[in-house]
Amino acid sequence: MGEQHATFRAMQEGTAEDWSIISEHFRPFAKKLPDRILAHLSLLDGDYGGFPIDRLEHSIQTATRAHRDGRDEEYVVCALLHDIGDTLGSYNHPDIAAAILKPFVSPENLWMVEKHGIFQGYYFFHHLGMDRHLRDQFKDHPLYQYTAEFCAKYDAPAFDPDYESEPLEFFEPMLRRVFAKPRNSIYKL
Ligand SMILES: [Fe+2]
Ligand SMILES: [Fe+2]
Repeated sequence: MGEQHATFRAMQEGTAEDWSIISEHFRPFAKKLPDRILAHLSLLDGDYGGFPIDRLEHSIQTATRAHRDGRDEEYVVCALLHDIGDTLGSYNHPDIAAAILKPFVSPENLWMVEKHGIFQGYYFFHHLGMDRHLRDQFKDHPLYQYTAEFCAKYDAPAFDPDYESEPLEFFEPMLRRVFAKPRNSIYKL
């Protein structure tokens, strides 16, 4: 016997029974979110984009630096995923990471991930004819320093081909714990 499916042809016709079938499928699917994230992160493997190291290595190096500096698990996972949006968000990559992390992390870490692109620009926008001080629009924001520090200590230095990072597997258990249960979601589980 094949798996059970809802029978409606339009959502307007949906019944509680349909939705109990869908809910049953949702739970195991949601549990595998960390696997899908890891699979997507691995798309950055070999993607240099002209940088000295590829984007996966940069992500791992950023996370390793944060971990070795004593940052907590959630912060380290944010560091690991901060550039995961490079594949689909060519013009707004921080938004993709922020959207993935949003149900699972603190508002502080979320803001940091979402804004890291503008803050990181301090280190290169001027080389591209842009304003390196673009981040100053947030200078009175309570998380200005928190986000500037992420870039200064972990993101900006994480392009060193000679740096010995932890392997990706080292971060897997942390990622699984952070994504184990959403703290903010409109969906009841
Ligand atoms: Fe980035
Ligand atoms: Fe980065």
